Amino acid sequence: MKRVVRFGVSLEPELLKKFDKLIRKKGYGSRSEAIRDLIRDETVKQTLENENEPVAGTLTIVYDHDASNITNKLLDVQHRHHKNVLSTMHLHLDEHNCLEVLVVAGKVKDVQSIADSITSIKGVKHGKLTVTKKRFD
Ligand code: NI
Ligand code: NI
Repeated sequence: MKRVVRFGVSLEPELLKKFDKLIRKKGYGSRSEAIRDLIRDETVKQTLENENEPVAGTLTIVYDHDASNITNKLLDVQHRHHKNVLSTMHLHLDEHNCLEVLVVAGKVKDVQSIADSITSIKGVKHGKLTVTKKRFD
């Protein structure tokens, strides 16, 4: 196990009560575990503000299968960025709607720009990009 440092945290009893309720709900074993996760989550958010940070993640889209030429348009973007689009999963949600999940990796700026090119295609009803850091220390 890595060396750990202990430190004290002072906060209002009401806030602590809320925090304990939250960590019970989330299933953490201890306050320390919960605080560690919060700090990690926040530091990941910070590093994602660096546009050159290497990241990996998923772009989830829902699109209208009947929109004009949409399948070709989507595949064109993916081929143009084949180094960043690692895998796709496709589900036919119903007669007209498709759900597609794309696994993407690369620098923040590249992954964001691919997501923008895809979600702005006419017929894409919703798109959500979720990324995480590629390297953790
Ligand atoms: Ni292809
Ligand atoms: Ni489909």
